[in-house]
Amino acid sequence: MPFPEVRPRRLRRTPALRRLVAETTLAVDDLVAPLFVKQGITEPEPVTSMPGVFQHTLESVRKEVRALSDLGVPAVILFGIPLAKDAVGSGADAPDGIVAEALRTLRDEVGDSVVLMADTCLDEFTDHGHCGVLTAGGEVDNDATLDRYASIAIAQADAGADVIAPSGMMDGQVAAIRIALDQSGHQDALVLAYAAKYASALYGPFREAAECPPAFGDRRSYQMDPRNTREALTETALDVDEGADMVMVKPALAYLDVIAAVRGSFDVPVAAYHVSGEYAMLKAAAERGWIDGTAVALEHLVSIKRAGADFILTYLAREVAELLG
Ligand code: PBG
Repeated sequence: MPFPEVRPRRLRRTPALRRLVAETTLAVDDLVAPLFVKQGITEPEPVTSMPGVFQHTLESVRKEVRALSDLGVPAVILFGIPLAKDAVGSGADAPDGIVAEALRTLRDEVGDSVVLMADTCLDEFTDHGHCGVLTAGGEVDNDATLDRYASIAIAQADAGADVIAPSGMMDGQVAAIRIALDQSGHQDALVLAYAAKYASALYGPFREAAECPPAFGDRRSYQMDPRNTREALTETALDVDEGADMVMVKPALAYLDVIAAVRGSFDVPVAAYHVSGEYAMLKAAAERGWIDGTAVALEHLVSIKRAGADFILTYLAREVAELLG
């Protein structure tokens, strides 16, 4: 008697069968919406290289987060653009700074129904556009920057942030922030560490949105080299040891192997950031009719989940929540 043939296509015959055996799901619960809030503007301003993304006013961000909450999106992450920038990024931890104002506004609007995350960094607030303070010689000063991050984290937690998300890639940043939060009575504030953040050309559109291209040089002395994976595990292990509650890999699609490796090695929740350049490429091709934007968006996000991410920071959050809802 011939051995029965294996026919994998049997499992794919109908949509219901495909749903039944799907290994990965993409849900509204997996989405975190990144939002830009700008001080001193009266109308939201579109970001040219990111169709559908805006620099928000306090009023428009309130409305946006209300809509996201109604759609069931569980979290947002805020980026602030201050009116004035200086060498130490004073706007980042000012009690009346734009991120603090936005956090209070949003807490008032949505209560605990949406997790409020704050990106904790200096590049949007410094006049030189680097993620830390500089030495006299123009290098990013790691340890002096940690003091600034600690102060920013406290200001953000004071203003109501649930999650502090340090993105500057300074050594010791998670420990500095965890200690500062604990000493200031913010034991409940979580830390989402940008653990494996690569020096990527895919952040280009973000730098338009957040008005923070580095005035000189680049970020390669602090962000990671795209050629490395083992280093991502070292960085993540340090962040977990320093007290990170959740870790992130960024960007996402060109680094699916890194997401899978981090997922395989650590038990904390793993986030992935589908960054501005990934969004811009998708939108640009879709606008020309060269790809089906909606189908590719869903394929991108499901693939990031398949690689092992628990949740995804993505500018697609609202449109995908509308689709899935
Ligand atoms: C730094 C920060 C950046 C992004 C998130 N946090 C910019 C950078 O490192 O240059 C980029 C996110 C994106 O491209 O969508 N505060």
